Amino acid sequence: MLKRTHTCGDLRKENVGQKVTLNGWVKNWRDHGGLIFIDLRDRYGVTQIVFNPQTNHENYEKAQALRSEFVIAVSGTVHVRPEGSANPALSTGEIEVAVDQLEILNPSKTTPFEIKDNIDVKEELKLTYRYLDLRRDELQNNLLLRSRLYSVVRNYMHANRFVEIETPVLMKSTPEGARDFLVPSRNYHGRFYALPQSPQTYKQILMVSGFDRYFQIVKCFRDEDLRKDRQPEFTQIDIEMSFVDENDVMSVSENLVKAIYKEIKNTDIDFDFPRMTYEQALMEYGSDKPDTRFDLKIQHFTSVFESGGFKTFARIAQEGGVVAGLKIADDGSYGRAKIDRLNDRVKSQGGPGLAWFRMNSGNLEGPIVKFLGESEKEELKKQANLQDNDLLFLLGGEKEKTLQILGNLRLHLAEQLGLIDENKDTFLWVVDFPMLEYDEDEKRYAARHHPFTSPQPADMDRLESEPASVRARAYDLVINGNEIAGGSIRIHRRDLQQRVFRMLNISDEEAEHKFGFLMGALEYGAPPHGGIAFGFDRLVMMLTGARSIRDVIAFPKTSSALSLMDGAPSTVSDAQLRELGLIAIKKDN
Ligand code: AMO
Repeated sequence: MLKRTHTCGDLRKENVGQKVTLNGWVKNWRDHGGLIFIDLRDRYGVTQIVFNPQTNHENYEKAQALRSEFVIAVSGTVHVRPEGSANPALSTGEIEVAVDQLEILNPSKTTPFEIKDNIDVKEELKLTYRYLDLRRDELQNNLLLRSRLYSVVRNYMHANRFVEIETPVLMKSTPEGARDFLVPSRNYHGRFYALPQSPQTYKQILMVSGFDRYFQIVKCFRDEDLRKDRQPEFTQIDIEMSFVDENDVMSVSENLVKAIYKEIKNTDIDFDFPRMTYEQALMEYGSDKPDTRFDLKIQHFTSVFESGGFKTFARIAQEGGVVAGLKIADDGSYGRAKIDRLNDRVKSQGGPGLAWFRMNSGNLEGPIVKFLGESEKEELKKQANLQDNDLLFLLGGEKEKTLQILGNLRLHLAEQLGLIDENKDTFLWVVDFPMLEYDEDEKRYAARHHPFTSPQPADMDRLESEPASVRARAYDLVINGNEIAGGSIRIHRRDLQQRVFRMLNISDEEAEHKFGFLMGALEYGAPPHGGIAFGFDRLVMMLTGARSIRDVIAFPKTSSALSLMDGAPSTVSDAQLRELGLIAIKKDN
C-alpha cells in the first residue's frame, strides 16, 4: 500500500513541487475539460487531486471507475491551483495534487445517503449506518472536541491533586430514581448484578478509605424514559472530596468549568457563578434549571384574585394555590388561533385552561375580563405593568405544577419570540433544594437528589415532623437552562443516615438489605464529605451547540433505547438462557 506522507489537511503553498502520498476517501468526483478532479477526504481535511490523461493515461482510466466513498491511496506532485480556482474555504484550497499513481484500497457500495452535513435523511437510517454518518464533518468535529475535553478535564483534576480511581461496572442493585439495568449471574442463579446508575456509594466509600479527592470519567446506566438530553448509558465526570463544605465543591466545579471554557472555547469567564435558591427558581422561572439567557419572569397575582369576581381563581387562591402568569409584548402574531394552540399545549401538560388578557388602548380585554371588578382590573394592570399590545397569560392551580407548566410555556414563548441569545452562555447554581420530591407514579415522597444527601443543619429538627419542608445541602449547576451537574454534601454518620432512610419511608430492614455496606462503612471514621457529577455528554452538547445528545456520542441509542447499527438489545440462545437460569417471557408488542 502507498502509505501517506501527509494528511488531507496538511498541504499548503509551501509544499508546492513536493512529491507526496495521500490516503483517504473520495468525497466527490468531477470530470472537467478532460481532467478528473476528486476531493479526497480524511478526518484532517480535504485535498483536491487531479488526474490528467496526458501525463498518465492508465491512471486516468482507473480514476474513471472511482465513486464516492471509495478509499484510495494516491501519489503525486503538489501544484499551485491555476489562477481563479483557489478555494479560500479550504485550508488546502491554494494547492492541488497532480496524481501519477493511484491505488484503490477498497471500493464502496453506493451509500444510502450522501455524506454531508444538513441533509434531510431519516435519523433511523443514519443510525443504522452510523459509521457513514460519523464521516460527516459535524459529527467528526463533535467527537474530536469530546476527545479534547477528556484531556482538559484529566489535566485539571490531576493538577488539583485528584486521584483517578475506577469503580465496578458490575455492582449491587440499589434502585433509586431510575430503573437498574440488570446482569444475571451464571454462578448464582436468581441473583443479579446491576450496572451503576452512578458510582455514588463507591465514591463515598473511597472517602472512608482516605482518598480525599477522587474523580473518574465514568459510564453510568439508567433505564429511564429518554429525552433529547438523556441516554440510557451516558458519561459523568464524577467527583468526591473529604473535609469540605458546599463552597469547596462548588469552587472546584466552577474552576473546572472555567478551565474547560478557556481551553476549548478560548473564553475567559471572569465572574463567580450566581446562586439562586430552588424556591426563587420555581417562583420566577417555573423550573429547577432556569434559562436565564432571557428575562420573561413569571409574575404572581394570587393576592389580586383572592377575593375577586373570578371564582375559579378566587378559590385557588383561598385554597393555597397560585395564580401566576407571563407577560409578552405581542409582535402582532398572537391572534386567536395562536393563543388556542398555546392553550392546547398547556392542557396537554395537565394544566387547566390558560386565561389571557390583552391591553388595547389602555383597556383590558379577554374572555374573563367580564368577571373582574374595576379595582381588580386596575390592580392587575398595575402589578403586571401592562402597556398597550401586551398579552398576559395566566394560570391558576397547585403551586409547583402550575409554575412548572408556566416554566415550559416561558421557554416556548421565548423560542416563538426569538428572545434567546444563542451566543450568550449563562451559568447558575441552584441551591437549597427540598430534600423530598413527590413521585407521581409511586404516589410517595422520594429523595430529590439521592438518599445520601445531607439535610441542612437548620432544618434537622423537622426531619420527622415536617419532612416536606426540609432543605438539602444539594446544588445543581445550570448552563443555559440545562442541568449540567448535580451534587451534595453527604451524610457521614450512620445515625443520621438511618433517620433519613426512615424519613424516605425506607424501613430499617430494607435500608440494611440495600445499603448495609455503606452504613457499615460510615461507622469506621467516615470523614465529612461531598461531591458532584457533571453530565459529560451534556457538557459536550453545550460546547458544540449540538441539539441532540446523540450528536455527541459515537454510538448512541434511539429514544426507544435501541442500537440500530448492531441491533441491541437482541435475543440470545436458549443455551445462554439456561446457563444463566433464566426463562424469557415474550411481551406482546
Ligand atoms: P445526577 O443524577 O444529578 O447525580 O447526575 C449528574 C449529571 O449527570 C447527567 N445525567 C445524564 N446525562 C445524560 N443522560 C442521562 N440519562 C443522564 N442522567 C443524568 C446530568 C446530571 O446533572 N451521584 C450523583 C452525583 C453526586 O451527587 O455527586 C448523580 O448521579 O448532567
